[in-house]
Amino acid sequence: MTAAEQNQATESAESDVGGRVKIFDTTLRDGEQAPGFSMDRRAKLRMAHALEDLGVDIIEAGFPQASPDDFAAVSEIARALRQPTVCALARCQDGDIDSAGRALEPAQRSRIHLFLSTSPLHREHKLGKSKNEVIDIAVNAIRRAASVCHEVEFSAEDALRTEPDFLVEVFNAAIEAGATTLNAPDTVGYVTPFEIFDLFTYLRKNVRGAERVVFSSHCHDDLGMAVANSLAAISAGARQVECTINGIGERAGNAALEEVVMALHTRAPHFRMDTGIVTRNLYPTSRLLAQVTGQPVPRNKAIVGDNAFAHESGIHQHGMMKHRGTYEIMRPEDVGATTSLVLGKHSGRHALRQRVTDLGHTLDETALDVVFERFKALADRKRTVTDEDIDALASGVDPEH
Ligand code: KIV
Ligand code: ZN
Repeated sequence: MTAAEQNQATESAESDVGGRVKIFDTTLRDGEQAPGFSMDRRAKLRMAHALEDLGVDIIEAGFPQASPDDFAAVSEIARALRQPTVCALARCQDGDIDSAGRALEPAQRSRIHLFLSTSPLHREHKLGKSKNEVIDIAVNAIRRAASVCHEVEFSAEDALRTEPDFLVEVFNAAIEAGATTLNAPDTVGYVTPFEIFDLFTYLRKNVRGAERVVFSSHCHDDLGMAVANSLAAISAGARQVECTINGIGERAGNAALEEVVMALHTRAPHFRMDTGIVTRNLYPTSRLLAQVTGQPVPRNKAIVGDNAFAHESGIHQHGMMKHRGTYEIMRPEDVGATTSLVLGKHSGRHALRQRVTDLGHTLDETALDVVFERFKALADRKRTVTDEDIDALASGVDPEH
């Protein structure tokens, strides 16, 4: 057995040990809240079907009180989907809760996601409320929501800048009032992986009834750490992760679903965690989102960008032709993508020879030398050299004329 095969065998044996982390997709709520990503109800419904096929556990379909179209979107998604729990966002206000409850009526399984700020900054400047008032508002809202849907999630907005002992008080009260999922969002993308690990460890140790509820992470990417922070929260016992396709969301975005999922799958022995995601649907779902929002996926985006499995440099292409594992840590087909060996000025003779052969030409080494020289000159002038260009060069034709 080679070292790589041995690693793989250890990975699959150890990954059997793990638990299950729920994937809560908020592409249609937090994702679409970001400028440039808004979706009408038709777009949301298309995405919701794709998310169901992807295998997410919970779809946050929208914020019914935000607009009549968003109410209709949540309601249509609730009627159309069979598998995932359908969730609607609501502030801790009667009007929001009632309209979320009505929009969710047709759902097989419904969840209202309540949120209320708990940090000192938000309590003083946004809410103008004391600690006790915050707890009272949360408790009343949770009780009301629990009477109009199957399950209630409570989010302590700006949790990561909230005093940990107060957060414990809020969560104790939320559990008593009937919340079954407790979310500690990093609303402003402020923390580091070490800090979030410590907070989730503290919450699981100190919240009364912690074993009866699911702790959830919801990380924003202002410092580029949303995925790392989500994984740290999972390591500390979070069993729901809130994320979006392509990482879209407020400001710099939310944790990218495809990155969290593939980190959990690829590094299984480390996390010992399973998701129900059909990973080969990641790439098509990402492209559907780009299509319905008109926002292209950045080329260098992890997992789903055009360059995620593309290789141009000669050294890398040569390695890839000998063994894919040299420069790929995941199989592109596992995420619904394909490897591409892109020919450009950094490419070498090995890749050119392979492409020339694939295109049906048989050249001896002297002829290949000539084609290689012309190819390098062309690649200096053009950013990408196409198969048509190579075909022309191998046929002795000038591709630029
Ligand atoms: O970032 C945040 O705090 C939110 C809440 C509504 C959970 O999106
Ligand atoms: Zn958010």
